[in-house]
Amino acid sequence: MAAHQDALSDDVSPVKPETRWHVLEDDRAVAEEAARRVLVAAERAIARAGEFRMVLAGGRTPRLMHELLAEAATDWRRWQIYFGDERCLPPGDDQRNSKAAALAWLDRVPVPGENIHPIPAERGAEAAALAYVPLVAAALPFGLVTLGMGEDGHTASLFPGQKHPPEELVHPVQQAPKPPPERVSLSARALSRAEEILILATGAAKRQAVAAWRRGEALPVAAIGGETPVDVLLDREAAE
Ligand code: 6PG
Repeated sequence: MAAHQDALSDDVSPVKPETRWHVLEDDRAVAEEAARRVLVAAERAIARAGEFRMVLAGGRTPRLMHELLAEAATDWRRWQIYFGDERCLPPGDDQRNSKAAALAWLDRVPVPGENIHPIPAERGAEAAALAYVPLVAAALPFGLVTLGMGEDGHTASLFPGQKHPPEELVHPVQQAPKPPPERVSLSARALSRAEEILILATGAAKRQAVAAWRRGEALPVAAIGGETPVDVLLDREAAE
């Protein structure tokens, strides 16, 4: 892994992330609150910098939020879309995070095609991670990073027990415990370089990981944030 990877070397944040927990009624309320926060962040960034750079979460949890965003009134020409992680599958595969986001949202709004930056995961983890680094380096700090969380406390494709060079912006991931095994993930460092960070977790299956996180266990999801506080939107099921 070469150029740009160490773009953040002077930004190491030893700060323990401030985590703000928000418990909402159900997954619908979480999606509505998340969509509201995304649009507020977008309007603020567009007013200030003329552009809003957003990182999308993978998995199923963000789908409802994405569908709500597809109904929003905003200047889509000012949005730049990045992905927090991707699965090394062909571009059209329904299991691709980029495909899921396109179906639920991006294909339904006039975001210019050149403003959507999928991770070229079809090239394989190593080549795709390398190709995505300059894009990430140029986009930092992001306006808003959205993330999900797995039942084991993973986020993006940062899994418990998997070590990656901390200075990297983008990691190739092999043998991921969640299929498919080959993936590409933005690093905790890159995901933490944002004006706002939103993590969504819904459903009883996430309850144990949420409890472990709140107890201070060193889960991958707990490594996100630093200078920027993290807002976690939970539904009652995940929070109990
Ligand atoms: C992925 C995701 C992953 C996801 C969690 C939660 O590509 O699988 O990026 O980190 O956010 O596994 O997945 P669900 O939302 O489907 O529970």
